[in-house]
Amino acid sequence: MKLAVIYDSKTGNTKKAAEWIADGMNEVVEVEAKAFSIDSVDEEFVKEANGLVIGSPSYAATMTPDIHSWLMASMGKLGFAGKLGGAFSTEQYTHGGGDLVIQSIITFELVAGMLCYSGGSAWGKPNIHVGPVAVNNNQEKHNGIEYYEDYFKIYGKRFATKATELF
Ligand SMILES: Cc1cc2nc3c(=O)[nH]c(=O)nc-3n(C[C@H](O)[C@H](O)[C@H](O)COP(=O)(O)O)c2cc1C
Repeated sequence: MKLAVIYDSKTGNTKKAAEWIADGMNEVVEVEAKAFSIDSVDEEFVKEANGLVIGSPSYAATMTPDIHSWLMASMGKLGFAGKLGGAFSTEQYTHGGGDLVIQSIITFELVAGMLCYSGGSAWGKPNIHVGPVAVNNNQEKHNGIEYYEDYFKIYGKRFATKATELF
């Protein structure tokens, strides 16, 4: 089964998070997961994928204009309807809007007719609520993008496990 992780990233944080998610997905048997920047999406791969996880940095607590435009242009063209959907974000500050970014991406996915999955709390720790968020500011002990590697890999594995159950 194919799964795609699609992201916008200007300074590399969201790209790293996307690659960690794809790594976690690829731990699940029979899953082929790939991460794509919105600038270089393999459209055939995405059309064939049963699941899409979409990520954006927080820009003023919203998704970037570029990924908004990409979603508008792609959700019909790439056949999002019926796929499993997830979302993730990176932000500079602990309260920098990452959850809001995820919610707005998930709203797009719902409008497109996707089945949305958080990777959620029912699995226990780490308790992921609407989707994973990484904080890259080093002012706090738990912050710094590398701190989140395992968290994003676990999310990817949970998402892929759910996708294989459903499809
Ligand atoms: C125009 C702009 C607006 C931003 N707004 C926010 C914000 O509202 N909250 C926040 O926590 N970080 C904000 N950031 C920081 C980025 O979300 C953060 O550094 C992110 O990890 C960058 O991702 P990237 O490395 O994938 O580009 C902003 C950055 C830029 C360039």
